[in-house]
Parts: sequence; structure tokens; C-alpha cells
Amino acid sequence: MLSHNDKVQRLVGGGWVERTYLNALSWIQFRVLSTHKSPDVVRLLRQTRRQRRSLMSAYEIWILHAYAMAQSRRPGAMAEVGVFQGVSAKLLCECKGDKELHLFDTFEGLPANCAKDGNVHRLGQYATSVEGVQAFLDGYENVHIHKGLFPDSAADLEAKQYCFVNLDVDLYGGTLAGLEYFYPKMIPGGVILSHDYSVLAGVRKAFDEFLADKPEPLVELPSTQCVFTKL
Ligand SMILES: C[S@@+](CC[C@H](N)C(=O)[O-])C[C@H]1O[C@@H](n2cnc3c(N)ncnc32)[C@H](O)[C@@H]1O
Repeated sequence: MLSHNDKVQRLVGGGWVERTYLNALSWIQFRVLSTHKSPDVVRLLRQTRRQRRSLMSAYEIWILHAYAMAQSRRPGAMAEVGVFQGVSAKLLCECKGDKELHLFDTFEGLPANCAKDGNVHRLGQYATSVEGVQAFLDGYENVHIHKGLFPDSAADLEAKQYCFVNLDVDLYGGTLAGLEYFYPKMIPGGVILSHDYSVLAGVRKAFDEFLADKPEPLVELPSTQCVFTKL
């Protein structure tokens, strides 16, 4: 598959080719969504996606929004690891009501990868300004931005419980760290969603290895995402 080829991923990943592809795909997907989904939700997603750069397609943010809305009725906080410019985080803010939302990112871009990732990303790719994200999310209550390398940046939050977590870190190490950190902290019925499971080898390996001895089945979605519900 072309989308699994390291060289192709390195060439197009994060650049204008990927951006153009994602914008064109999202334009089509929003047209389809607008034929049968709530106009208010489609408008919110389209406007939010236009406000800043995102690596998520329209269907992917629709899935994120749908899960976050459903989980907002359950007890526990929400979290995201891999914030970048804050598009997915803003949608979590729109869904969360008065819940705590914890957002984790280096804001200095991707950390070092490992052999399991292949040679797909560059160190520091997706660096962005934390101040820009703070300004973008200004006005939403109970939002906590943790700048630094995850999971070190979460060290003082050990007692929290979560109903919904979005992982979007692109790499094996960060994905595995996210699963190890959040799995024991999820409420029964809590949901962990991840971007890029079907396109990034490191993300896929982290999920497959982590869930191999767990009872929860992984659901692969028609987007690049995967999801499971804590039993
Ligand atoms: C693809 S971007 C996230 C995209 C974002 N969710 C959106 O809506 O467009 C991946 C992000 O993960 C962050 N990241 C990767 N590994 C990390 C780690 N171990 N700790 C903190 N941030 C990490 C990078 O800094 C980068 O901003």
C-alpha cells in the first residue's frame, strides 16, 4: 500500500502535499456530512478546522466530536496527547461542558522516534507556539495545558480518572506511553481514541502490543483512527 511506504510518508507527511490532500478530502467529506448530519455540528467542525492547521480530515474530527459528546455524559476528565495547533483540542472544549480537559504537547514538535516507527518523521516536526494554542482556547473553563514531554508532563496528575482520551502523537513511544498512563485511569466505559493507527507503523505496533494481553477489543474505524472502550 502506498500510504504505508516510509519514503512516501516522509516525502508528503506534514508538507503541502498532505495539506492539499487533506483539505480536498475534507471538502468532499463535509459535503457528504452536510447531506445527512446536523447542520449545526457540520458548521462547527468546518469552521474550527478552517481556523488553524490540522492533520485530521473532516470525518476524523466528526468521529472525535461524536465520541467526546457521548463521553461528556460520563464521569471523569478528558485528555489529549498531541495538540499541535489545537483544532482537535478546541472540539473537545466544545463538547466537555464543565469537565477538566488536560492537553499534553511538547509544543516543540515530535520527539525522537525509534526503529519501530520507520524513518517517517523529522525531529521537531509540528513545532508550534503554546501561546497560540492558549489564545485559541481562551474562554473555555477548566482547560489545563501541560507543555513538555509526555508522560513526564503528567507526573502531578496521578490521581485523575478519565472518560475520554484522544491520542495523536504519531510515534510508537508516545502512543505506548499514552496507553500505559491512561489505561489504568480510565473509568469503566471510558474511551481511548487514536489518530493514524492504519497509516503509521509505530502507532499500530504500540496498540497491538499493548492490547495483546488485555480483554478490550480494538475497533479499527474507516478513517485512520482506532478506538477501544475500557471494560
Ligand atoms: C500530528 S500532531 C497532533 C495534531 C492535532 N491533534 C490536530 O488536531 O491537528 C502530533 C503532536 O504530538 C506531539 N507529541 C508527539 N509525541 C509527544 C510526546 N511524547 N509528548 C508530548 N507531545 C508529543 C507533537 O509535538 C505534535 O504537536
